[in-house]
Amino acid sequence: MKIGAPKEVFEGEARVAMTPESALQLQKLGYECAIEAGAGKGAGFSDAAYKEAGVEVIRGAAALWKACDIIAKVRQPNATELKRLTKDKTLISFFNPAANDDGMEAAKSSGANVIAMEMVPRISRAQKMDALSSMANIAGYRAVIEAGNNFGRFFTGQVTAAGKVPPAKVLVVGAGVAGLAAIGTATSLGAITYAFDVRPEVAEQVESMGAEFVYLDFEEEQQDGAATGGYASVSSPEFREAQLAKFRELAPEVDIVITTALIPNREAPELWTEDMVAAMKDGSVIVDLAAEKGGNCKLTVADEKIVTKNGVTIIGYTDFPSRMAAQASSLYANNIRHMMSDLTPEKDGQINHDMEDDVIRGATVTHQGEITFPPPPPKVAAIAAAKPKPAAPELTAEEKKAQEVAAFKAQTKQQFTLLGIGGALMLLAGLYAPASFMQHFIVFVLAVFVGFQVIWNVSHSLHTPLMAVTNAISSIIILGALMQIGSGSFLVILLAALSIFMAGINIFGGFLVTRRMLAMFQKS
Ligand code: NAI
Repeated sequence: MKIGAPKEVFEGEARVAMTPESALQLQKLGYECAIEAGAGKGAGFSDAAYKEAGVEVIRGAAALWKACDIIAKVRQPNATELKRLTKDKTLISFFNPAANDDGMEAAKSSGANVIAMEMVPRISRAQKMDALSSMANIAGYRAVIEAGNNFGRFFTGQVTAAGKVPPAKVLVVGAGVAGLAAIGTATSLGAITYAFDVRPEVAEQVESMGAEFVYLDFEEEQQDGAATGGYASVSSPEFREAQLAKFRELAPEVDIVITTALIPNREAPELWTEDMVAAMKDGSVIVDLAAEKGGNCKLTVADEKIVTKNGVTIIGYTDFPSRMAAQASSLYANNIRHMMSDLTPEKDGQINHDMEDDVIRGATVTHQGEITFPPPPPKVAAIAAAKPKPAAPELTAEEKKAQEVAAFKAQTKQQFTLLGIGGALMLLAGLYAPASFMQHFIVFVLAVFVGFQVIWNVSHSLHTPLMAVTNAISSIIILGALMQIGSGSFLVILLAALSIFMAGINIFGGFLVTRRMLAMFQKS
């Protein structure tokens, strides 16, 4: 069978569904590959590069659609393209089946099989075909780059000869795939990053990426990601009010806001209101990744960049992946070839459209003249249901005190046991070992004990400063050197002076390094 990718017809779309690299992989599955002349130009792939990868270059869209059994596309097909579908063809593309009745009807009456890439179930096995995620990842990254391009300052804080620059403060609203990509990009550029999401389970992911999760002072039944397949549902009005109050508090503080909040099959929730925009500093930037669904910011205009009276730039572009066409095409073409790999278990260049397969069934929206959308829920859940945590019983003040005393007693008992064992061992050694050995041995044992106690009781994050402090213990060398300095021998005086000098570097250097290290953790 022959698989081909036409040039995208949607205005401004630069992506392409097949790259020379993905074509090589498709050929390994037994397929012949074809591309419409010039289809890869916008993404930086020349016809010559395709030819070199063994791809046939066909002039004109109509000829390509006619010649191929399988068509791979990025954007949902327009009316002209839909007319080119026939019974024997398979189309793999974004298709927007939930809001594309005409397209669904046209596909059904043509008898073609249509696989909608946005319908790939979000289960582990299908991650390699998850085009929504690969595009959202790019959008999140590009949103930060776009914000940086419109923000007149550094992201990272700097101390330069010309003055101190504070780090930028970035707020990411919605920590799904795009939000997490934005957080990763903003923190890696050195910004202080905050993030909020209605799904509390993402707090850990947000924090692991170096951002601070914004918690609300609000008691509500937490949104259970598992119950909604990992997606958010609509919040209660009280929760929304608490959320908006928090955002109002943050608005004058933050320099960049990136909003990505979406709820499936609904308009995007409005979360950044006019008064919040008015409260932001001159020069701040908002990038609204939800612009296509109406926007999270009240003032967003889809596909436009506007600047408000108080100097806030609001970016509502809806084509972020296309703005990074080379990267987006590579990832999307990879998603397609993984889908083809699932459809070709025998690697014989023939599609086996197995409707028993969870992933293929989930993504197929029309099959043999029937509409098969929406699919039944997948047999494997996308997100494992969270285990209900047993509620901790409320303790009275007395019970808390009793618990603390019991814990202290247990710790003291453990320490005494350790000391007892150490003492008994020393006594045993004292009976047989010479006195000079015992002297050193006692110092050694005490050092181990004190060292263990000190390190064990200090938080891990403070171990580096602790090293600097214990470094200072080496100042005992200075005492030894001072005792030797009056010995009269020039060589001894020289060595003693040298050791005082070196111990000095060790002590003061250690503290200096610690000071610099701690300064790195201080948020200005
Ligand atoms: P999305 O694009 O539908 O929504 C973006 C984010 O906005 C979500 O995190 C959502 O909780 C949040 N949001 C919605 N309303 C909000 C509000 N009022 N305030 C603040 N935040 C709000 O989400 P996306 O990126 O498509 O991910 C959805 C889920 O799918 C996530 O749980 C993700 O981990 C999961 N997923 C699973 C995959 C797999 O298992 N293969 C692959 C990719 C995603």
